[in-house]
Order: sequence, then structure tokens, then C-alpha cells
Amino acid sequence: MFSELFQINIWQFLFYIIVWPLNAEVNLKGIPVYRFVLPSVAFASPLQNPDNHCFCTEKVISKNCTSYGVLDIGKCKEGKPVYISLPHFLHASPDIGEPIEGLSPNEEEHSTYLDVEPITGFTLRFAKRLQINLLVKPAKKIDVLKNLKRNYIVPVLWLNETGTIGDDKAEKFRKQVTGKINLLGLVEIILLSVGVVMFVAFMISYCACRSKKVK
Ligand SMILES: *[C@@H]1O[C@H](CO)[C@@H](O)[C@H](O)[C@H]1NC(C)=O
Ligand SMILES: *[C@@H]1O[C@H](CO)[C@@H](O)[C@H](O)[C@H]1NC(C)=O
Repeated sequence: MFSELFQINIWQFLFYIIVWPLNAEVNLKGIPVYRFVLPSVAFASPLQNPDNHCFCTEKVISKNCTSYGVLDIGKCKEGKPVYISLPHFLHASPDIGEPIEGLSPNEEEHSTYLDVEPITGFTLRFAKRLQINLLVKPAKKIDVLKNLKRNYIVPVLWLNETGTIGDDKAEKFRKQVTGKINLLGLVEIILLSVGVVMFVAFMISYCACRSKKVK
């Protein structure tokens, strides 16, 4: 019933509520936060992610739309051959990064993410990383480009914009939110235990009374 309603299967649902938050939970200065990473599917080829079909504009460069990891944003830049990707072509197909020397993509330094505190919804840390690339094509009239055998997507620059909650603010946050939540958890456990003890006590006395009456 539930899964029919939301068009997902039950395993997917269990994955989302159990496994995914576990994977994504990080500790930021003593505050548990959820990490929302820009997924590699955002830069996937249209074969993997049909939503990206409009970024595959060139059959040759994209190898019939099978290359992934770069998005052609030329249309937004007055037709200039500009491609965006994650820095160091993180999550890109090998044919794109392979001709460029000195790349060492890694998730830690080159991904884009938000760390969100799940109770308040505040973003306590973020990293926005993006790489701008230019398409370089062989051109007979230009000396340096004359001998190129194929097209290359060449990185021009990459951006690293990060922000983290300051130590004093984190301290304040811990005291005012996390501390209270922990306290609430404790109160919950105490009340629950008291409830269980009382319930058991009543059950015992009830049974005791009944067995007396039966006699
Ligand atoms: C793309 O598809 C065309 C036609 O199906 C084929 O001739 C060509 O070789 C393909 N190109 C690549 C790079 O796979
Ligand atoms: C990105 O910027 C942050 C803050 O300045 C810095 O700590 C981090 O090392 C930078 N990352 C890279 C890969 O340069």
C-alpha cells in the first residue's frame, strides 16, 4: 500500500530511511550533520540519466553521448565551447581525463556537498567545487592547433568555495540545540522506563487480585 503510493519498492524505501542517513552522517565539531553530496549522476551521460539529454549536443565529442562527467553549457555562453565538470574531472569517463596530465580526482577534495543539521535544517558546512573547461579542436589555420588529432576538453580553472561554522558558533549550537536534544533523549528514556515499570507493576497486581477473586 505504502510502496504503491510512492512508486518505490520496499527495499528502496528501507535503504533511504536506514542505510542512507547512516552513510551520510558526519560529525562536524561535535554536531551530527547529514552530508548531501552532488551525486555523480548530475554529470552522467544521457544514457544513464535521461535528464541530461540536452547537455549532449555534439555526437563526436561525447562519443555518441556515452562520455560522462562534463556538461556542455555552450548554449548558455553564446555558443562558446565551455564545459563544466567537477574538479580534476571527478566522476568523469576515462576518455575525458586520460589525455590530460596531472589530474588526481578525489571525492574528499573535489566534490560539492552540503552538511545540514537535520533537526534545524541549518547548513553548517558547504563546499562548492566546479571546473570550467574549454573544448579545443584541431584547426588547420592556427599553428598550435594544426597537429591535434582529435578534440580535447581542457581544464581552464576550478573553483573551491567552502564555508564552515566557526568554533564559537559551533559551541553555542552544541549547547543550545544538540545539548537539549540529548537531554530530551534522556528524559524520553527515563519516562519510558518509568512507564514500563508501572505497567509491569499494575499487571502483576491485577493478576494477583484476579487469582485471589477466583479462589
Ligand atoms: C556514433 O554513431 C555513428 C552511427 O551510429 C557511428 O557511425 C559512429 O562510429 C559512432 N561514433 C562513436 C565515437 O562511437
Ligand atoms: C579549498 O578551500 C578550503 C578553504 O580555503 C581549503 O581548506 C581547502 O584545502 C581547499 N581545497 C583544495 C583542494 O585546495
